[in-house]
Amino acid sequence: MPQPKYARESLVTMTEMVLPNDTNTLNNLMGGRLLHWMDICAAISAQKHSNRIVVTASVDNVSFSEPIKLGNIVTMQAKVTRGFNSSMEVNIEVWAEDIPAGTRVSTNRAFYTFVAVDQNGRPIEVPPVTPETEAEKDLYESALRRRQLRLVLAGRMKPHDAKELRALFGVAEEG
Ligand SMILES: CC(C)(COP(=O)(O)OP(=O)(O)OC[C@H]1O[C@@H](n2cnc3c(N)ncnc32)[C@H](O)[C@@H]1OP(=O)(O)O)[C@@H](O)C(=O)NCCC(=O)NCCS
Repeated sequence: MPQPKYARESLVTMTEMVLPNDTNTLNNLMGGRLLHWMDICAAISAQKHSNRIVVTASVDNVSFSEPIKLGNIVTMQAKVTRGFNSSMEVNIEVWAEDIPAGTRVSTNRAFYTFVAVDQNGRPIEVPPVTPETEAEKDLYESALRRRQLRLVLAGRMKPHDAKELRALFGVAEEG
């Protein structure tokens, strides 16, 4: 198994300016463009952790609570929360900044899952994550529940086998 790596080693910060070609008819950033930027930022983080080519396996729900306006500066920060076998969960947070107005608001957050692949596109082992800060430890612990939830939703795990989720919802173990 590859040597463990610290979560901080996968930290990636990416900054973009919202230009006219990125917006809808209301002059707000298009959701698809933001998802594209988030995918790139999170993929770089997963590459840094695994030192491999990675492919996006899934994106957990992304909500758009605040519109991001033309001219805003969008900052994304991504970090791997946990490595499993060949897959890694990446936490990404997004802020929008209006520099002339001096405001900066949190606009989005998502969890991406990437799979490291070899030269033939086959999944390959990734290093485990060593969390250091309290926030990293919380994300590391909860990553197992999120993994089970997304695998159940993707039809890749039977709800019965999602032990962490069963414990969370107080479903007793059978016999
Ligand atoms: C992701 C992919 C490599 C998985 O391949 P596979 O043959 O299903 O491989 P496996 O069943 O061995 O799964 C490999 C890992 O992917 C994870 N995975 C597969 N589908 C997943 C999903 N929907 N959500 C989260 N993780 C998933 C598995 O849990 C496993 O993780 P683990 O090794 O850490 O336990 C393959 O489905 C693929 O290439 N998909 C297309 C990727 C792509 O093109 N992305 C861009 C989309 S626009």
